[in-house]
Amino acid sequence: MREREWMDKSSYTYGLHGTPTTFTLEERLCEIEGGKHCVLVPSGLAAIAQVNFAFLKTDDEILLPDHVYGPSKVLAAGELKNFGITCQYYDALNPDDLSQRISSKTKLVWLEAPGSVTLEFPSLMELIKRCKQKNILTALDNTWGAGIAFNAFDLTPDAEKNWGVDITVHALTKYPSGGGDVLMGSVMTHRDDLAQTLKLSHMRMGQMVGANDAEMVLRSLSTMRMRYLAQDSSARAVSQWLSTRAEIAQVLHPALPQSPGHAHWKALTCHPSSSPTGWAAGLLSVMIDARFTSQQVDAFCDGLNIFKLGYSWGGPMSLVVPYRLQTIRSQEQTHLQKGHLVRFAMGLEDADDLINDLQQSIAKNLKL
Ligand SMILES: Cc1ncc(COP(=O)(O)O)c(C=O)c1O
Repeated sequence: MREREWMDKSSYTYGLHGTPTTFTLEERLCEIEGGKHCVLVPSGLAAIAQVNFAFLKTDDEILLPDHVYGPSKVLAAGELKNFGITCQYYDALNPDDLSQRISSKTKLVWLEAPGSVTLEFPSLMELIKRCKQKNILTALDNTWGAGIAFNAFDLTPDAEKNWGVDITVHALTKYPSGGGDVLMGSVMTHRDDLAQTLKLSHMRMGQMVGANDAEMVLRSLSTMRMRYLAQDSSARAVSQWLSTRAEIAQVLHPALPQSPGHAHWKALTCHPSSSPTGWAAGLLSVMIDARFTSQQVDAFCDGLNIFKLGYSWGGPMSLVVPYRLQTIRSQEQTHLQKGHLVRFAMGLEDADDLINDLQQSIAKNLKL
C-alpha cells in the first residue's frame, strides 16, 4: 500500500484518485482527441470550473469569448470575482479585439468553436496565434467538436507539430454519453507541464465521477462517431430546408456557406483526403423573422411534436429551445439578423420526420 502511486495510474488507491474504469475512460478519450492527460469531472460545467480553479489565482484575469457557454460567464461573475479574478469578454470573430484586451494580468483565454447557441465559427488558428505570441494559456470548450470534427491539439497537421490549444474541456454529457442520461465532463491536455497542476487540483477538490457513470460513457463511446455522423447529416438536411422558408430570417449552421464564420469552419474541418465535406455536429439555430411576436415563436416551439423542449444535445431525442439574444450577449451582434433566436438539437429520428414536424408547426403557428 505504501508503494502505491495514483498519479501515474499504475495502481488503485482510492476512488477519488481514480479506478481502473475511470482510468480506461480517460485513456480512450485521450486516444480520440490526441491528448495525453485527462481528468474526469461530474459535468461539463465542472470541467470549466476545474480549469479555472487549477490555473488561476487572485489578481489574474481571464478572457471569455462573448459567445461562450452562458454558465461560464456566470461562474466568472460569481466565484471567480469573489476570489479576486477578473474577466473581460472579447469578440471571437475579431482577433484584434482579443489582442487589444490581453494585458500582463491575462492568464487564460477561453475559446469555443462554434459559439454557444449562435454557432458563428471563429478562426481558432488566428485566436490561438495571438495567445501564443504572448505566452498565454488557451482552453477550448470542444464539446461541439467532440474530438471528431478537428484535432484541437494539432490544428495544422501539415505544419508544426502539436500546434493547437493547451487544454480542452468537454461536456461528456453530450456526444460521448449519447443517451442524454449521464452528466460528466473531462479536462484534457497534451502538455506534461500542466498535467501535475491539473491532477493535484482535481484531487484536492474531490471532483471525481462515479464508476457506474464512467462505464455508461465507455459503452456509448464506441458508437459516438456513427451518432455524430447521423446527427450531422440531419442538421444539414434541416438547415437546408429551413433556409428556403420565408418565416426564417437566418439559419445558423457552420456548414452553410452563408453562416457567419463558414470559411473558418471549412478551413479547420474539411480536408480533401480525410474529410472533404467536414463535420458540423447536430446543432443549428435560426433567427425567426422579427415580425412574429414572441408568443407566436413560443407557440411554434410548443407546437412541435418530435422536437421536445430541452437544453441539452447529443442525445437520441431532438430538442428545441427559444432564447433571448440580449440576455446571453454583451456585445453588439452585427453578424446576426434581427429576429427571434431558436436552437434545435438533432436527435436520432429520421430527418424527413423532423422536417415534417417543423413544417406542420410553422403552418399552424407562424402566420404573418
Ligand atoms: C458548449 C457546452 N459546454 C459545456 C456544457 C456544460 O455541460 P454540463 O451540462 O454537463 O454541465 C454545455 C451544456 O449545455 C455546453 O453546451
